[in-house]
Amino acid sequence: MSVSVVLGCQWGDEGKGKLVDWLADRVDVVARYQGGPNAGHTVKVDGQQIIFHLIPSGILRPRTVCLIGNGVVVSAEAFQGELEALKKLGVSVEGRLFISENAHVILPFHRQLDMLQEKARGKGAIGTTGRGIGNAYADKIARYGIRMLDLIRRERWGAIADRNLDHYNSLLAIHDRSAVMTRERFLAMLDESAAIVQPFVTDGVTLINEAARAGKKILCEGAQGVMLDVDFGTYPYVTSSNPSTGGVSTGLGIPPTQINYIYGVCKAYTTRVGAGPFPTEFEEVFGAHVRDLGNEYGATTGRPRRCGWFDAVVVRRAVQISGVQQMLITKLDILDTLDELKICYAYRWEGREVSLFPFGLTCEDKVEPLYETLPGWKTSLVNATTIDDLPAAARKYLDRLEELVGIPVAAVSVGPNRNQVIQMRAFEV
Ligand code: GDP
Ligand code: IMO
Ligand code: MG
Repeated sequence: MSVSVVLGCQWGDEGKGKLVDWLADRVDVVARYQGGPNAGHTVKVDGQQIIFHLIPSGILRPRTVCLIGNGVVVSAEAFQGELEALKKLGVSVEGRLFISENAHVILPFHRQLDMLQEKARGKGAIGTTGRGIGNAYADKIARYGIRMLDLIRRERWGAIADRNLDHYNSLLAIHDRSAVMTRERFLAMLDESAAIVQPFVTDGVTLINEAARAGKKILCEGAQGVMLDVDFGTYPYVTSSNPSTGGVSTGLGIPPTQINYIYGVCKAYTTRVGAGPFPTEFEEVFGAHVRDLGNEYGATTGRPRRCGWFDAVVVRRAVQISGVQQMLITKLDILDTLDELKICYAYRWEGREVSLFPFGLTCEDKVEPLYETLPGWKTSLVNATTIDDLPAAARKYLDRLEELVGIPVAAVSVGPNRNQVIQMRAFEV
């Protein structure tokens, strides 16, 4: 039995989906533990691409059981969209896809509220994905949430409407009186969502703990990244969950003592979608160039991603918070054509040099990233399959990442396809 975690060490979109798919044939269960359909996890197999928002990226491996854990907020519509995409690909989910009964529901009014609130924030907008994530989590924490186990019990809906509808409507009315729901409309929303998720809802906590007891291998798939963590990220420019390892225990019901291996996915450079501090961000022209090279457009919203140099200050913080043991580096091939590469090893901030991302850093702060410069390798890596295929300059770049972050690199991805991964050393899941 083993429990492994694959999580993002930057601001999301590190390539978690690709690496989870790659590792999934070595495990029995793949489980999402937080976030919701704000995630966009891209997997490419034999030229076919699929983007997962809720369903774990392990579903393409036919013998893998997949669980959407209790820490995830689930939109039935988004879930249905993915089921249809899988059907088109001829992937059967029969008897191996489950949603934890304690997971909370995102209803259409949550999405509406998310967009209304973003509009009201004006210049201070967070740049959310507009999927109702923060609103569903806010209701969960404020105890106005609806769990899967409530949703599939029609007889509870009357009491839920009595208890919660005025609250939901008071929030909607702040921004748009015409968005207020009648009781009938609200019950119809529940009806539509319930019909979609009903066959998949189960006691996920027992499912995963029984699997562990039976000696199975479990892989926990993070969404977003540690810098978007509501507790440890660049607040308030964060998401509303805990992508860091702490989220695994609360989001799946796996005791922390059962976690064996923690892998941190890091892009060979850095990207961010939405607003918030980003010290190593490129200036406009070079940023647009790297965005083109890396095709850096959001997998969920299509928005252009902001791009910058690899930031060891960010990744060190992720390692500290999440207990990351080894890095999985992605998109090294995107740097193929660059003459030289920079790695940020520290910031000068508030008159001192800092080596761990400061929690107090704001967008307005003057922060100077301190860089080391390395030569580029100026050759294509996309066909590299072993360490020996990597040019000396690429190996040197990876060596410096290891030294500056302080943990080893277990594998390096050099293209979007499943087989484009170089295993750097033996490692276990
Ligand atoms: P996730 O949210 O962490 O799963 O990452 P996304 O799927 O949002 O973004 C990663 C993007 O990079 C996707 O388009 C992947 O297909 C692509 N990708 C992943 N790894 C590599 C790589 O090593 N090289 C290249 N060129 N593309 C990659
Ligand atoms: P994956 O799993 C990158 C960002 C949004 C916004 C902030 C809050 O694909 O890495 P939210 O909709 O969560 O309330 O938005 O978080 N964000 C992501 N950025 N990758 C993601 O997921 C993200 N999920 C949310 O852009 O800045
Ligand atoms: Mg993504």
